[in-house]
Amino acid sequence: MTFSNRNKSFTPMLCNKLTVRRAVESDHAEVLRVEREAFGREDEATLVDRLVPAPEFTLSLIAECDGRAVGHVLLTEIAAPLRALALAPLAVIPAYREMQIGTQLVHQAISDARNAGYEAMFVLGDTLYYERFGFSSTLADPFEIAWQGPHFMALELAGGALAGKSGRLDYPVAFFG
Ligand SMILES: CC(C)(COP(=O)(O)OP(=O)(O)OC[C@H]1O[C@@H](n2cnc3c(N)ncnc32)[C@H](O)[C@@H]1OP(=O)(O)O)[C@@H](O)C(=O)NCCC(=O)NCCS
Repeated sequence: MTFSNRNKSFTPMLCNKLTVRRAVESDHAEVLRVEREAFGREDEATLVDRLVPAPEFTLSLIAECDGRAVGHVLLTEIAAPLRALALAPLAVIPAYREMQIGTQLVHQAISDARNAGYEAMFVLGDTLYYERFGFSSTLADPFEIAWQGPHFMALELAGGALAGKSGRLDYPVAFFG
């Protein structure tokens, strides 16, 4: 079976064993490859390449199918009225999509963020995809950010963490090229 994705075709691959784990320095080249293959361009790989060595805290998770890197997600601390992280980018390479790999990466990212004491997570993305994890555009509305709008969403990592909260969100400079 062959699927079409932005005019490119690819054959879905089997994934017998999926592992999601923290990415370490020696994974960096593979992480960048996954970002490039998933987005079909350099921008997100460049962003990750800038964010990982940035002074802000980052949490980088890699998904491997049978030992091959096929997915990646990055969380980065942002300056906000509460302890918050930005989720960006999330990437799964085309031949491994629709197998819940993105879902497992996001669930693990949320769990790790919560365990690390963060109170909220922000994402700019497709609402249909992120609402399944509890992200909400309404929750993000009170926050000031250049990319505010219906695709900008927030998730509470602790019950009621965003209640009554508003103000400016400052993403690391790496996000601005
Ligand atoms: C978005 C992405 C990470 C999803 O990864 P994935 O492993 O295929 O996703 P999952 O298998 O966990 O989830 C599949 C579900 O998400 C839905 N979905 C996948 N991509 C979607 C999108 N862009 N918008 C809305 N829904 C989407 C599928 O329809 C499916 O829904 P279902 O569970 O109701 O059947 C992957 O398609 C990707 O890397 N895309 C290119 C990069 C990108 O756009 N990243 C997101 C930036 S915010």
